[in-house]
Amino acid sequence: MGITIKGLGYYTPNKILTNFDLEKIVDTSDEWITTRTGIKERRIAEEESLLDMAYNASLMAFEDARLEPKDIDLIILATLTPDLGFPASACLLQAKLGAGKAYAFDVSAACSGFLYGLEIASSMLITGKSKNVLLVGAEKLSQIVDWSDRSTCVLFGDGAGAAVLSLDGDGELLASVMRSDGSYWEILYAEKCGYIKMKGKELFKLAVRSMAEVCEEVIRKVGVSMKDISLVVPHQANIRIMQALAEKLSIPMEKVYSNIQKYGNTSAASIPIALYEARREGRLKRGDLVLLTAMGGGLTWGASLLRF
Ligand code: ACO
Repeated sequence: MGITIKGLGYYTPNKILTNFDLEKIVDTSDEWITTRTGIKERRIAEEESLLDMAYNASLMAFEDARLEPKDIDLIILATLTPDLGFPASACLLQAKLGAGKAYAFDVSAACSGFLYGLEIASSMLITGKSKNVLLVGAEKLSQIVDWSDRSTCVLFGDGAGAAVLSLDGDGELLASVMRSDGSYWEILYAEKCGYIKMKGKELFKLAVRSMAEVCEEVIRKVGVSMKDISLVVPHQANIRIMQALAEKLSIPMEKVYSNIQKYGNTSAASIPIALYEARREGRLKRGDLVLLTAMGGGLTWGASLLRF
């Protein structure tokens, strides 16, 4: 018996901002953005709060899991763009859902937030301290993007993804490796109430190298080979990062899931949204070995190998 993702859900705002729309805001082109990043469009939360997005994604995950908010005893919400300074967005979500039995807190690990949350949730489930956990990754990055900086504003988008986790199922979190290195903080950060600042080229190289290392470590830990992996679901930052990672891991791109063309980089929300869509497209089935990996501000990074 292991940790099973019993239900998945997601929410992306209705408002679509295409590369052509961005051409009217900054000196850029659809051609540059597409070839350098793989992104064609992203969603922008004009009307929705972070809480709205997290709530909608969670309701979908509950329905999928055939559970109700009252069944949950822990809520973990990964975000770097909360609606309030405090309390934690997870507490606001707990109230909105009416999850009266759950305690709730946020995780701040940028793009690795969902994987860090999975690690915490798994420990709570395995030790028997929790029975059913709601894990959400939600971001409203549009509010911390400098819309006059073409080197960053083309990359990010808004959205939320949610997973209901429990021990009651056939899935398993086989192994995970989580890392942080705060000495690299200046490569990707935002000042308090400030905009995202990023050294893209350095981050690109670090992302490929670090994610490849933890993926290899996790595979070694479990004693399987890359050939056994059904699908890699990486954090959606840049299609070229995913291609370089696939090459380093000697995994064909057909086994690497990407929906970056539709959403851009949604930070902590990107992996759960990708998991939902991969399953909907029939690319992820019960029993599959799925490798998740992410890297983001902190720097933080990690990889988790699941039997889905
Ligand atoms: N449109 C047109 N031109 C642009 C744009 C733009 N939006 N942005 C930058 N340029 C120009 C630059 O000014 C530069 O011009 P110059 O040669 O005259 O100086 C040229 O394009 C090349 O810029 P580079 O920064 O060298 O472009 P690069 O190929 O490195 O791509 C990018 C930039 C897409 C940001 C890439 O470095 C990247 O994806 N890095 C990873 C960053 C990332 O994903 N961060 C997200 C969070 S962390 C994570 O999730 C891993």
